[in-house]
Amino acid sequence: MRIQIINGPNLNLLGKREPTIYGKTSFDGYLEILKKEFPDVFIDYFQSNIEGELIDKIHEVGFSYDGIILNAGAYTHTSIALYDAIKAVDTPVIEVHLSNIQARESFRHVSMIAAACKGSIAGFGMDSYRLAMEAFLNK
Ligand code: DQA
Repeated sequence: MRIQIINGPNLNLLGKREPTIYGKTSFDGYLEILKKEFPDVFIDYFQSNIEGELIDKIHEVGFSYDGIILNAGAYTHTSIALYDAIKAVDTPVIEVHLSNIQARESFRHVSMIAAACKGSIAGFGMDSYRLAMEAFLNK
């Protein structure tokens, strides 16, 4: 099984960025833990602050991988282009967020990508990614 994790803008700063909301762990550190937890799964990781690069990565893996775990960061709330990219590929996408976007500012309550995704997991910190992995494995 091959799973692609894609993190969007500002998520390269996890561990440093607003730690009271997003925690103190860097994503690289968490990724090692996740890989140990799912030794039989090939887990690939990509992060970009650039919307078009996120779209390119979805196109690149979206016809061969078994699943994409996407935290689109703030593009979640703005990007019809990401919605279209998710619709355009065969690989199912699970939307994840560290924070509970429904419990935050009203502009975070709308996800432009949710309707194109298999499902959404939000509010469990880094564990949101593990829960998405479980969802793909239990399919
Ligand atoms: C986020 C939530 C988004 O609203 C925000 O713009 C982020 C992170 C999350 O993981 O909680 O960058 O996607």
